[in-house]
Amino acid sequence: MFKIIRKEILNPSVSLIEVDAPYIARKAEPGQFIILRVDEHGERIPFTIADYDREKGTVTIIFQIVGQSTERLNELNAGDSLQDFVGPLGKASHFEGVKTAAVIGGGLGTAIAYPQAKKLHAMGVEVDMINGFRNKDMIIIEDLCADACTNLYTMTDDGSNGNKGFVTAKLEELISAGRKYDIVIAIGPLVMMRAVCELTRPYGIKTIVSMNPIMIDGTGMCGGCRVTVGGETKFACVDGPDFDGHLVDFDQAIRRSKMFAKGERRSREAHHC
Ligand code: FES
Repeated sequence: MFKIIRKEILNPSVSLIEVDAPYIARKAEPGQFIILRVDEHGERIPFTIADYDREKGTVTIIFQIVGQSTERLNELNAGDSLQDFVGPLGKASHFEGVKTAAVIGGGLGTAIAYPQAKKLHAMGVEVDMINGFRNKDMIIIEDLCADACTNLYTMTDDGSNGNKGFVTAKLEELISAGRKYDIVIAIGPLVMMRAVCELTRPYGIKTIVSMNPIMIDGTGMCGGCRVTVGGETKFACVDGPDFDGHLVDFDQAIRRSKMFAKGERRSREAHHC
């Protein structure tokens, strides 16, 4: 069993839990994920690692309450335990030779972008972080992000925090103003990652995206997490979740995610009736 040592409500639909998992904390790197089960009957849910503390032996995940399993997870509090907490899974991100980076987080994706920015910043890389949210009430971990980058731009779709606009508009503004990036890392909704990739493609800026499809076993056996990258089938759980965004077939990934959303809605309706 894995004990939850801290829980924080970040916004009405997003929570953070810090879990006592020393083995994973020792090995975790940005870009990797864990799979947990709330109890022995629970489904296996993958979460990208949002933070880790090697000394304390803890791993933090940030999750959105989107379905039956995450609702159940959100019922737990500090002191409660999880049945399984397995990882670290997936490949770690590599940033050798990078001097300047733009790290972009969309909504909950900010929680996954944060450890990437933090690692780059700690390596001495100049990091512009651009995070986007629907409105100011949805903003999460702004203080943590501010400490993990050189310049932080927090955007809202409705301008309720005083900075109106999409992350792509801010990125374009910075690039047009002469900002040079060795790498752009975009993590968030598929449509946002696709838009970032279309923006960076003509500039030839290497762009990494984190694909977060349905995962079941997390070991490359079930095929649930397949994505097409450069015309080849890849499994996000073992070949990713980070991929070269300019090679990802986003149209296919978006079609597959819609199929999943339908199934999740049915499962919620069944659960609540
Ligand atoms: Fe099953 Fe990736 S989760 S193959």
